[in-house]
Amino acid sequence: MNNTSRRNFIKTSGAIGSFFILPSGLRAKSPNGKICTAHIGTGGKGRIDTVYLAKHDNVEVVGLCDVDYSHGKIDTWSKQFTSATAYQDYREMLAELGDKIDAVSISTPDHTHYPATMDAMERGKHVYLQKPLTHKLEEARHLAKFAKEKGLTTQMGIQNQSREAYRLARHYVQEGILGKISKVYVWSFKTWGYDGEPFKEKSAIPDTLDWNLWLGTAPVHDYVSKVYHPGQWRKLLDFGCGTLGDMGIHIFDTPFKALDLKDPKWVEADCRAPNGFGHAEKNMVRYGFKPTKYTTDDFTFTWWDGTDAPRHKNNPDLMLPNGDELPKQGAVFVGENGRMVLPHCSMPTFYPESVIEKLPKPDIEGVDHYTQFLDAIEGKDQTLAGFDYSGPLAESLCLGVVACQFPGKRLKWNAKKMKVTNLPEANPHLKGKYRKF
Ligand SMILES: NC(=O)c1ccc[n+]([C@@H]2O[C@H](COP(=O)([O-])OP(=O)(O)OC[C@H]3O[C@@H](n4cnc5c(N)ncnc54)[C@H](O)[C@@H]3O)[C@@H](O)[C@H]2O)c1
Repeated sequence: MNNTSRRNFIKTSGAIGSFFILPSGLRAKSPNGKICTAHIGTGGKGRIDTVYLAKHDNVEVVGLCDVDYSHGKIDTWSKQFTSATAYQDYREMLAELGDKIDAVSISTPDHTHYPATMDAMERGKHVYLQKPLTHKLEEARHLAKFAKEKGLTTQMGIQNQSREAYRLARHYVQEGILGKISKVYVWSFKTWGYDGEPFKEKSAIPDTLDWNLWLGTAPVHDYVSKVYHPGQWRKLLDFGCGTLGDMGIHIFDTPFKALDLKDPKWVEADCRAPNGFGHAEKNMVRYGFKPTKYTTDDFTFTWWDGTDAPRHKNNPDLMLPNGDELPKQGAVFVGENGRMVLPHCSMPTFYPESVIEKLPKPDIEGVDHYTQFLDAIEGKDQTLAGFDYSGPLAESLCLGVVACQFPGKRLKWNAKKMKVTNLPEANPHLKGKYRKF
């Protein structure tokens, strides 16, 4: 384990800015013709990301990084990928391996996404970044712009988008079998929020974990076992985006892509009053979008999360015939000619079924999201969830998260100026603050 002194590359000023600058155009090229990958966050979802990227014939894993050797299974990985060097600090890994790296995968808690991705992209690396892209809205805008300027290949980890079910659903909607869509309802039963008081206790930090590195640019919190790391951070304002950011990004994706949605005009939320610490455990967020060629002019878009989602009682749009039940998480598209129910990760069903009978079964197959990213680096494919697409998607999610800090108020959104126009106190919530670490 390389444990040399940690260098601080982050020039923090409290504002979005440059994390590490190399002359533009400087880009890694592997002498052996392989795509050399480095992996930041190798536990949790990072385990799957590492395995799937490493499976590709033309990949060589050269770097592994996790702030917790034990949760990140660094010893196991190091035995499997003998050509890889292991680190605890991604800044050291990117600096020391330098041109040996072509692409970086980032599977860390949300608050780390922006600083780690900027560090990698400023060094000319292609990036596979986990959802929901960023913790703050402004960061998503910045990543998309920067990746485009640098011509880098990017992919956000919404793997379902590449699979058959979501591709078919998009195809049917865009073929117009439901007619124009007037309403979309999206929901998840999950409760990635925390309605309690801030934690007062303190636990001993495990020997395998560097807590300062885990906190990264986020404000300092004392370590408390099992309430931040692993996984639980998504419930808390300083580190995650609640259920909306966690599951919403997967579930919003099909309506966004199918209906060509972008830039909400307004957003409003119904949830408990903010407590400055945790996301609310139950939320309703409603969005107003500019109509598109796939929607009616009065199109509405509603999200619910928590144990009472979907809030469907007495809503005829959400009552299904034949005793059919709504999925625990997913989407319903309501169109002029019928409805499509799209359970999260499953095939769509139609009411009435006859709406798809008129259309020949399309020749659509799923593709592997990771392979697509690697093939795109080699110029053989294009990513479906590159930052050009996932940036605006993440912006809408992040705006919904901000609305949950102002329940009952409609936030009017000027996407071009990146500003809430009627509630100035909402605007600081769009930006990150970056602690030096
Ligand atoms: N696409 C999907 O289906 C899916 C599913 C689950 C999680 N995710 C995403 O994956 C990311 C991680 O979520 P998780 O549930 O695996 O969380 P987790 O807390 O279980 O795992 C995060 C891993 O990253 C490590 N880590 C934390 N900070 C780090 C840093 N600065 N540098 C290096 N390593 C660091 C942790 O030690 C841990 O091993 C999140 O963005 C989450 O939204 C995606």
